[in-house]
Amino acid sequence: METKIYSTDQQALQEAADQIKKGELIAFPTETVYGLGADATNEEAIQKIYQAKGRPSDNPLIVHLADKNQISEFVKEIPPLAAKLIDEFMPGPFTIILESNGKIAPAVTAGLDTIAIRIPNHSIGRAFIRETKLPIAAPSANISGKPSPTKAEHVADDLTGRIAGIIYGGATGVGVESTVVDGTGEIPVILRPGGITLEKIEAIAGIVDSPAIKETEKPKAPGMKYNHYEPDAPMFLIDGDDAFFQEQLNHFSNQGKKVAVIASDELASELDANHLYKCGSRNNLSEIAVHLYEALRYFKKSDVDMILMETFPDRGIGQAIMNRLSKAAADRIEQE
Ligand code: TXA
Ligand code: MG
Repeated sequence: METKIYSTDQQALQEAADQIKKGELIAFPTETVYGLGADATNEEAIQKIYQAKGRPSDNPLIVHLADKNQISEFVKEIPPLAAKLIDEFMPGPFTIILESNGKIAPAVTAGLDTIAIRIPNHSIGRAFIRETKLPIAAPSANISGKPSPTKAEHVADDLTGRIAGIIYGGATGVGVESTVVDGTGEIPVILRPGGITLEKIEAIAGIVDSPAIKETEKPKAPGMKYNHYEPDAPMFLIDGDDAFFQEQLNHFSNQGKKVAVIASDELASELDANHLYKCGSRNNLSEIAVHLYEALRYFKKSDVDMILMETFPDRGIGQAIMNRLSKAAADRIEQE
């Protein structure tokens, strides 16, 4: 299949929206990562998403809407607490789980009776969704298991030939995906940390549950149990000071390995490394989040044997960063 490149002018967005109406897949920018969109009411179109990504069919998709007042068309009810969160965080990097009224195609929710809803805070992404006049089911627009795409070029690398088109909307903003919150109960439950921090949700809701999702239980956000975000070469997290990082780098290099490093600007300036990718200041974790997935995509196993990466404080946006990094490294971590 030919994958068409769409610009962001009104006519291009209209053409891309026409493809969606015909049941085709279009990748589009949001403020978190690029999404791979399809008509959420068209079962066949949804099946195409799972095929194009190689995504397990028990991992449900987020439904993207253009405006808040559309949410009630797709859910049984909006409990008061959920209404408060919607009011505060949408549009934005925030996804709310509510009880579905069954108006979307069954494959979107992978058999669950709940639905995930998000309104992106991105002018092009939202204009595109609005143009389709449809609810748009969209996972991140990467091959399953790989880091999510923060540039249209990343989407093209993964999905060219598999989807009808890509809207070239430049780099996304936040860099990590939305926070997924179950809003069906008495207190909000964070199923996936993301762009809206635990601290911000606590400030609105008071008590918030943020379970560490155990691999052995049936996870509440089904996507959390699969390998995710994995770089081309195996990655190891190095948890210690800058001198410890250099020691580990020397240790693996002395074994004859070609070792790549992904580091903050601060660590990078201390290191003696042959293959180095800098991902921003560790004093500004939002900057690390912006560059994270591009960094994870940078090194290829044809060039390096392994990747070492530093760890970050597990608070604020750092929770989302560390959640993604431990998956990217498949829990391989060297501690001081
Ligand atoms: O920022 C984002 O959320 C991006 C952009 C494109 O909007 N989308 C995204 O989608 O990250 P995806 O499919 O890569 O991740 C969706 C997550 C998965 O972990 C999935 O299991 C969870 O949301 N999810 C979807 N529907 C759910 C439901 N009804 N109950 C619990 N978890 C759900
Ligand atoms: Mg994803």
